[in-house]
Amino acid sequence: MPDNVVRYRSMTELLTDRAAVVTGAASGIGRAVAREFAAHGADVVCADVRESPREGGEPTHELVASETDREAAFVDCDVTDYDDVERAVAAADAFGGIDVMVNNAGVVGPQTPVVDLDVDAYRDLVAVNLDGVVHGSKAAALRMVEGGGSIVNVSSIAGITGYGGLAPYSASKGGVTLFSYALAAELGPDGVRVNVVHPGVIETAMTTDDYALVGTDEGEDLKASIPLRRFGRPAEVAGVCTFLASDLAGFVTAESVVVDGGSLNSR
Ligand SMILES: NC(=O)c1ccc[n+]([C@@H]2O[C@H](COP(=O)([O-])OP(=O)(O)OC[C@H]3O[C@@H](n4cnc5c(N)ncnc54)[C@H](O)[C@@H]3O)[C@@H](O)[C@H]2O)c1
Repeated sequence: MPDNVVRYRSMTELLTDRAAVVTGAASGIGRAVAREFAAHGADVVCADVRESPREGGEPTHELVASETDREAAFVDCDVTDYDDVERAVAAADAFGGIDVMVNNAGVVGPQTPVVDLDVDAYRDLVAVNLDGVVHGSKAAALRMVEGGGSIVNVSSIAGITGYGGLAPYSASKGGVTLFSYALAAELGPDGVRVNVVHPGVIETAMTTDDYALVGTDEGEDLKASIPLRRFGRPAEVAGVCTFLASDLAGFVTAESVVVDGGSLNSR
């Protein structure tokens, strides 16, 4: 799996002395975010229902500790359970208290027309993708209103436009988008910024296994329609998350950044 995290290593100190919590940090995009944040100076709590990456390799918190001089910890956390998320946020107290929250954990869920939809599967999807973001945002906000902070919520290009066959996923990701804008209005006066990242197709286990596009004929057709003519890498989403988490984005809140190789706006 492509991985260009290392080339940035130790280039900047954008997040020095910050403590970050990343949900879904075991695999894919969350794993890249945790690594990128640590490379820029942050200590990181890796919160996930699993410790080992879906794509293989050593657990993210161990990798971060071995490739940087930052601290990292794993917290067994199901984002559908508020108490679990609260424990993950509290774990950042060991690193001086949370400064950055990345609500990234997500699943693609049912890929059927709505008329065939299993409503229980739909509810399970929303519990992870939307409830999880609400849980993480609340737990982080409770602490950040005391001293400021940055919340980055991972939506999707499917949280901006509708894709047939992915209506439940689009609903959950659209919810993430507008929840984030509303939260930004509430937390801005306390110095807390809230922004949204919208990946296009990124090469992770989600797009090789769950919603198989990478390496399929359908995926190749799709790739040919993307202006940059390729799928994205987890590190390329992580770079945008790093910018939004850092003081470089100090006047940016209630904003969306699309990371999709140009596909959404250039069809
Ligand atoms: N890969 C893409 O093309 C793509 C595109 C748009 C948006 N996204 C979004 O990016 C985020 C990360 O996706 P990814 O591609 O890295 O997927 P992934 O499957 O590689 O990784 C997701 C991680 O989230 C964890 N997770 C799942 N349910 C959880 C739960 N209930 N509590 C805690 N952790 C849980 C998984 O264990 C896994 O480690 C998701 O929100 C996804 O919807 C991905």
